[in-house]
Order: sequence, then C-alpha cells, then structure tokens
Amino acid sequence: MVSVMYLDNSATTPLDPKVLDAMMPWLTSEFGNASSVHLYGRKARIAVEDARTEIAHALGAHPAELMFTSGGTESNNTALHSPLHESNLVDEVYCTAIEHHSVLDVVHAMKRKGARADVIDVDDHGRVALDDVARLDNKRSLISVMLVNNETGCVQDITAVRHLLPNAYLHTDAVQALGKVRINVQELGVDLATFSAHKIHGPKGIGALFVRRGIDFKPMMVGGGQERNRRAGTENVAAIVGFQHAVRYAMSEFDVRTSRMRQLTEQLRSLIAAMVPDVRFNTPVEFAAPHILNISFVDAESLDGEAILQLLDMRNVAASNGSACVSGSQQPSHVLSAMGLGRHEARAALRLSVSHLTTEEEIFQAATILSEVIRDLRV
Ligand SMILES: Cc1ncc(COP(=O)(O)O)c(C=O)c1O
Repeated sequence: MVSVMYLDNSATTPLDPKVLDAMMPWLTSEFGNASSVHLYGRKARIAVEDARTEIAHALGAHPAELMFTSGGTESNNTALHSPLHESNLVDEVYCTAIEHHSVLDVVHAMKRKGARADVIDVDDHGRVALDDVARLDNKRSLISVMLVNNETGCVQDITAVRHLLPNAYLHTDAVQALGKVRINVQELGVDLATFSAHKIHGPKGIGALFVRRGIDFKPMMVGGGQERNRRAGTENVAAIVGFQHAVRYAMSEFDVRTSRMRQLTEQLRSLIAAMVPDVRFNTPVEFAAPHILNISFVDAESLDGEAILQLLDMRNVAASNGSACVSGSQQPSHVLSAMGLGRHEARAALRLSVSHLTTEEEIFQAATILSEVIRDLRV
C-alpha cells in the first residue's frame, strides 16, 4: 500500500488506538442510556460524569461548567446564540475577522437579521486589533476571539482582551488550541470556550462547551433534561469516553508532543525556505501554535491553489488550502484576506499541519515534492 504523507492534522487527526480501546465496551456490551435508572444506565452515567470531571480538570474548569456537544461547530453556535437570543444577556455581538465559519457565519446572520453584530479587524500577523477591542461596549456585549487560528496557527492574547473588556461576555474557540497550547479557562478569564475531540486523536462528533458558573445559560437544543437541562439528547457515551482518553494522553504527553510538533514545523519552514523560491510564510514565528505552517506564493496570480493541492495529492501529500470546510470552494481564504493578502495570494495558499506522529522523513519528502510541484506549475 502506498503511504500517504498526512499533513492535514488541523482538519482532523487519526484516532489513537488506545482511545478506540477505551471506547469499545461502550459501543458493545455497555450500551446503556445514561439517563436510565437500571444498572446499564447507571454505569453509563458514571462513565459520562467521570469523563466530564477529568476533562474539566484538564481545562481548569469545574465539572458542572462543562457540557458535551456534537463538536466545535455546535459549541460555537451555542456559545453565540445563548447569551444574545435565548437569555437576553447581551445587546451586541462581535467576533474577529479570522474566526472559523461556525462563529463568523453566526455573527453575519445576526447582523443580517438586524442585531448589533460586527467583525473586528486583525493585523498582518493575524492578531486581533486591541485598539478596536478597547472601543467596544464593555457591558451587555459578547465578544468571540479564537485562541488558535485553524489556518495559520496564530495564537491570540485572550487575557489582554479580557483586560480591556472586564464586563463583556468573552467566548474563545479553543478547538485548535487543545493539546497544542496550555489552557486554563480561569486564567484566560473566558466565560465560554469551545473544544472538539477529533483534533487531538479522539473521535469525531464530540466536543464540549465550557460555560462559566453563574451564567444564565438557556439551551439551544430542547426536548430532554440531559446535560443539566442545557443540551437535550441522549449522551454519546462511547464518544465522551473517547474524548476523555484523548484529553488524558494529550495532557500527559503535552511537552513531548508539542516540542515534537514544533520541531517538525520548524524543519518544514527551513526546508521550504531553502527549496521553494518566492514563498511567504503566513504563520508568525512568535505567537504560533506548534502544529501549523501556512504558506503562500508571491507570484500567486500564475498559480492555482486547487491545482497545487491536486498535484500534491497525486504524489501522496495530503495538505489543505485552509479550513477543511471551504476546501474545494476556490474562495480566497477569509483569514489571509483579513491579514491583508491579495485575492490571488489568499486563494493559492497552503496549510501544512503536523501531529506528534508525523515523521522527519515525511517532512523532508513533502517539502521536496512541494518544491517540484511549484517548479512545474511555474514553468
Ligand atoms: C477553529 C475551529 N473551530 C471549530 C471547528 C469545528 O469543529 P468540529 O469539526 O468539531 O465541528 C474547527 C474544525 O475545523 C476548527 O478548526
């Protein structure tokens, strides 16, 4: 079998076999509904609450502050809708221009419906403009600022945002941050935070939303009392247990994994700088998560982003042109556009993302193949 160099770990990661082992009983013999009163149900309930406690502690949260969701998209939608529409806690909603679409599209939709909602600029490194943040309404507003950007890996200074807006509701999308940068929701000062399991070698379709205690949270999903009346629907016990184990290994191996990822992206940066002329690195050297390297090409007008991806794919390099959700759409990346890149350059960009499982050989091979693909396209 041909082995593929998988450099798309920001889109998703392979399931850790140890995580699968931990999930198996809950997919087979232990099939109970966590709301049932009998033995099967009680065992499932214990597993769910055990997972909630372990994940919450890993994030600096109280277990009661963590609700399970179907993943990052649902957590983001819920985080933005609940304070504005459901609980009437805020009058204005803001997010940065580089948020994932599961935040950005909600804010755009709110604006179209007449709500006071807007998008805040970032600088050319992709960092939120703190001057603009300082001008926002500090009371009765919700601001969403992602901790790590999924296209460039840029890390935001969330505590600085909190400092500028001590009374606003603050949400952070920490999907790309989990397992890559240290997270303590209390130290960050956030009220709401989004997490997802499948970016850290856990299963797809499971995530969590941190909701700080004391917030008058109203559910988006109704029809059952699960998750302390905050999210109706039978809990996915196997996925929750998988999430718990993925978090456990990401945390216990945090230093080894992150320094490995950092070493690999640095190696990739040096190789590309040496092998591919006229490249621009869109991932900042400072303030960057360890796993992502985003590049674009100075002569992007003559390069087609989709063609680069397809040629890489034909040579067994799996990469992405940005967020998985927009790949194939030929749209310029909204993240790179917000950072000031031109239309062509924002369309022909490439995101290479590693995990601790990526090898140095793969990095070398991928850089070599990339240099050949770009050379051939430039002819
Ligand atoms: C920053 C960010 N937020 C949210 C999501 C959505 O998460 P999920 O795939 O769990 O719905 C992603 C996934 O690509 C992401 O990278």
